[in-house]
Amino acid sequence: MTTDASASPAARPPSLPVKPRIFSGIQPTGRPHLGNDLGAIRNYVALQDKAATEGREAIYCVVDYHALTHVHDPELMGRQILEMAAALIALGLDPKRCTLFVQSDRPEVTELAWLFNTVTPVGWLMRTPTYKEKRLNQPEDVNTGLLTYPVLQAADIVLYKAALVPIGRDQAPHLELSREIVRAFNARYGETFPEPQAVYTEAPTVLGTDGSKKMSKSIGNTIEILGEPDLIRKQVMSMVTDTQRIMRSDPGRPEVCNVCQMHRHFGADYQEIWEGERTARTGCVDTKKLLAERIIAHYAGAREAYKELTADPKRLRAILDEGAERIRPIAEATMAEVRERMGLR
Ligand code: TRP
Repeated sequence: MTTDASASPAARPPSLPVKPRIFSGIQPTGRPHLGNDLGAIRNYVALQDKAATEGREAIYCVVDYHALTHVHDPELMGRQILEMAAALIALGLDPKRCTLFVQSDRPEVTELAWLFNTVTPVGWLMRTPTYKEKRLNQPEDVNTGLLTYPVLQAADIVLYKAALVPIGRDQAPHLELSREIVRAFNARYGETFPEPQAVYTEAPTVLGTDGSKKMSKSIGNTIEILGEPDLIRKQVMSMVTDTQRIMRSDPGRPEVCNVCQMHRHFGADYQEIWEGERTARTGCVDTKKLLAERIIAHYAGAREAYKELTADPKRLRAILDEGAERIRPIAEATMAEVRERMGLR
C-alpha cells in the first residue's frame, strides 16, 4: 500500500494516443516474395488505408537491428534494407499516409530494449519457439541477440505506444511475449504502455513452390513477385501440385493443391478454375500457366515502381529519413517518461 497516492507511479495516467497506433516491423530480406506480400504487406496497406480514414497513425519499420542476428555482411545489409523499403512503397505503402522508417534510424529503441531486459525473466526468452529453432538452424552463431530478439520487438512497438500489430500467425509467440514484457513493466513502474494486440492477416501461411514448407527465402521455394516475368514463370511452373494426380485424366483435388490455393488471391473466378481441376477438364500445367500470367499482371505496376525507386537510392533515403524524423518526438517523449518512471536522470 502506498501512503501518498500522488507520488505513486501507478496513480499517474498513461500518456496514450487517443486512437491506438498501428505498428509493424519487417526484416530487410531484400526483394520480397509472394509469401511476404500475401502474409504481411497486403495487410499493412489495407490497415494504412483504414487508418487514414479513422485518423489513426500507422507506422512501419524495416527492422535492420533484428536482422543483425543473422546477416553479418555489411554490403548485403545496406542493399537489402533499401530493397525492402522500395518494395514496401512499390506494393502500396504511401509515405504520405503512413510512416515508413528504418529501425536503426531511431536508436532510442535500443535504450528501451535494454530497460525492458531488466524486467524480462531469462526463462521467458529461453522458452520462445523461434529461439529454440534458431539455435538449431545456426548452431555456429547462437548470439545473445537471438535470445533477446523479442525484447527488442516489444520495444519497437511500444516506443510509439502502438497497440495494433499486423503480423502473420508465426509471430504469435513474439507478440505474446511483448504483451508479457509490457505487463511486467507496467506492474513494476506503473501503467505506461498499452498492451499490444495482434491483427492477423487473412492469408496466414503461404506455402512455397515445394507445396510443403512455408515460403521462405532461406529455403529457396519462393515466387519473386517483383522479378522479371520469365523468372516468375519459371518459379510458378516448378510448383508441386496435387501429388496424387499422376495422369492428366486423373481428377485433381484443389483443396490440397497449392497452385489452386494461390488462385484464390488472383481472381474472383478461382472456383471455376478449381472445377476444371476436379473434372480433369484442365491439367496442372494449364492452371500453373494461368497463375503465372495472373501474378505477372497483378504486380506489373509494382514491378515498374520498384525499378524506379531502386534506381534512385537518394530519393529513397530521403523518404526514409523523413519517416524517422517524423516520429522522433514520440520516441523522445516516451523515453523521457520511461526514464523518469525508472528513477533515471
Ligand atoms: N519479428 C518480426 C518478423 O520476423 C519482425 C519484427 C520486428 C516485428 N519488430 C517487430 C513485427 C514489431 C511486428 C512488430 O517478422
